Amino acid sequence: MSDTFYVTTPIYYVNAEPHLGHAYTTIVADVAARFHRLIGEEVRFQTGTDEHGDKIAQAAEDQGVKPKAYADKISGMFKELWPKLNIVPDNFIRTTDAEHIQVVQAILQKVYDAGDIYLDTYGGNYCVGCERFLTDKELVDGKCPEHDSEPVFIEEENYFFKMGKYQEALTEHIKANPEFIRPERYKNEVLAMLAGDDLEDLCISRPKSRLTWGIELPFDSDYVTYVWFDALINYLTGLVWPDGENYQTFWPAAQHLIAKDILKPHAIFWPTMLMAANIPLYQHLNVHGYWSVDQAKMSKSLGNVVRPLELAEVYGVEAFRYFVMREMSFGLDSSFSEELLVERYNSDLANDLGNLFSRVLNMLHKFCGGVVPQPDKLLPEDADLVQLTRAVAAEYVRENRGFAFHKALAAVWSLIGAGNKYVVANEPWSLAKEPELAGRLNQVMYRLCQLLAQVTVLIWPVMPQTAEHMAGVLGLGGVTPSIMPAVLEGGELLAPGTATHQPPALFPRIDTAKVKAKADKAEKKAQGKKPQKKKQGKKKPPSGPAEQITIEEFARLELKVGNVLEAEPIEGADKLLKLTVDAGEDQPRTVVAGVAEHYAPEELVGKQVVIVANLKPVKLRGVKSQGMVLAAVGDEQVIVVSPSAPTTPGSKVR
Ligand code: MSP
Repeated sequence: MSDTFYVTTPIYYVNAEPHLGHAYTTIVADVAARFHRLIGEEVRFQTGTDEHGDKIAQAAEDQGVKPKAYADKISGMFKELWPKLNIVPDNFIRTTDAEHIQVVQAILQKVYDAGDIYLDTYGGNYCVGCERFLTDKELVDGKCPEHDSEPVFIEEENYFFKMGKYQEALTEHIKANPEFIRPERYKNEVLAMLAGDDLEDLCISRPKSRLTWGIELPFDSDYVTYVWFDALINYLTGLVWPDGENYQTFWPAAQHLIAKDILKPHAIFWPTMLMAANIPLYQHLNVHGYWSVDQAKMSKSLGNVVRPLELAEVYGVEAFRYFVMREMSFGLDSSFSEELLVERYNSDLANDLGNLFSRVLNMLHKFCGGVVPQPDKLLPEDADLVQLTRAVAAEYVRENRGFAFHKALAAVWSLIGAGNKYVVANEPWSLAKEPELAGRLNQVMYRLCQLLAQVTVLIWPVMPQTAEHMAGVLGLGGVTPSIMPAVLEGGELLAPGTATHQPPALFPRIDTAKVKAKADKAEKKAQGKKPQKKKQGKKKPPSGPAEQITIEEFARLELKVGNVLEAEPIEGADKLLKLTVDAGEDQPRTVVAGVAEHYAPEELVGKQVVIVANLKPVKLRGVKSQGMVLAAVGDEQVIVVSPSAPTTPGSKVR
């Protein structure tokens, strides 16, 4: 088993300020780095900024400043943000660093000398957003699907990297190393990309006549290098390739972390570049999904960009870190909402963890003078708890190693849940009333202290400050790798006689009513309404030119008639109703509809509705909604759409 670990984030473009998506990846990398340190490995964690290319040159021009000055400003924002989110990288790299430019040129020269770079004329569809030529297959209705924009046709003489030459070798490598790209869905996606026609060679230069903001090709000063060729090499520069000690130590343990948007450059361009330069491939490419916000793509134009620092300031950095790590199943997409964050905060942090911590310590102070007692005889139920602790620690290590952090956290919370149940089952307050049961009380309190110490260590990678604070209160000292063997054994972390402190409230509950009022106010503001004033009379439904779509785009929607079998309110969500709908399928579906302010549940039961049946399921207030009910939405009225005469459930609506 390797005892070193090198984790990298993508280096972020400096054309936009850091948002939730960037923060998520970088928090994951920080958690991974901390976890590997905790299990005793030597770790290096690198992030940074990607500063060359069309996009940046364009953004700088829009602001009327030189690209470097512009890059300095935004790069600084990223660099300053990370420590505020308790993220501690070992290296922050910039592609404008002199050392990086040198390494990129050295690798270009090496690949050129090996005969894998050639000059050719090429015409193709170029997407400025992706900073690359797109193949015909990649276009959807003539547009780049990632940026929803038409590419520009460009024809020019350029240098090409013989990527196609490595198609077979890469396919073999991926097949022989099933964990090379993970989770599996992304490996399959890459294998599908490689299975088709011949892999095209990669255009790796831009003529200086069109773009000067890049690294000059060492073998032709009329050209600069393509931004992806420049950017990917950062992973080596940061280790001082080829002779640096860090390169020797960490490159064999390299793991990249990215979101699915940049899968192709990392899974195909990068390994083939490494093969051509005769450099060993990285160990794993770990790919996560995309965050949307309240079900919509995060974008400046929609005004829904989530700024991590603003949330961290309101709810605390640690709660924010916990939320993103627990909420997103690594590899899948997730929808962010402040209400969800508050829900998780109140249930997982305030209720489960916070309560257990203060409850146990209060009892310890009340019944045992605040000191970890000498345990008495171990009963089977105590042994079960120890056994569970051991199992959880093993699961935690396994899942974290595999980048399934949400599962590792779920395991820790199962231990917290078991701790709370153990308190209820053993009633220390009753034991404390009977002097002859003092021995039993001591065993129960001793076990609970050990459990709290276990939890403290296990949450450290995600919530380091909280864990250190808890460790201080428990008399555990710091959280260091030396404690891990005892954690894995479910052994003694706090010796009898250890003095503890009075517990603070770790996570005071958040008043959901206040958060809701704030969200409503923001929603009204976004709709351009004045909060209190109600306009008189019936208003026209909102209208305005909507973007036109093609018949094919419309055909992608699956609209179906369904019978509402049941309808019920959802606790704590006064706009939502949970409907059970028979849409002519094997089983009825659950659909959450935002109509509670307009319909009583009983008004909907027995009604026929039209649902969007192929909408991705989402969780709303803890209820998984498998579709959406269509309704006519006026300014004050919401009327559920229904066929004008009863029809068979499952009928298509076209
Ligand atoms: N500069 C390139 C990467 C070069 S790496 C050699 C780039 N930069 S980026 O600024 O666009 O960052 C993309 C990355 O930011 C994603 O892969 C992901 O890590 C993060 N995210 C940006 N938006 C995101 C979401 N909405 N959701 C999750 N992560 C996202 O591509």
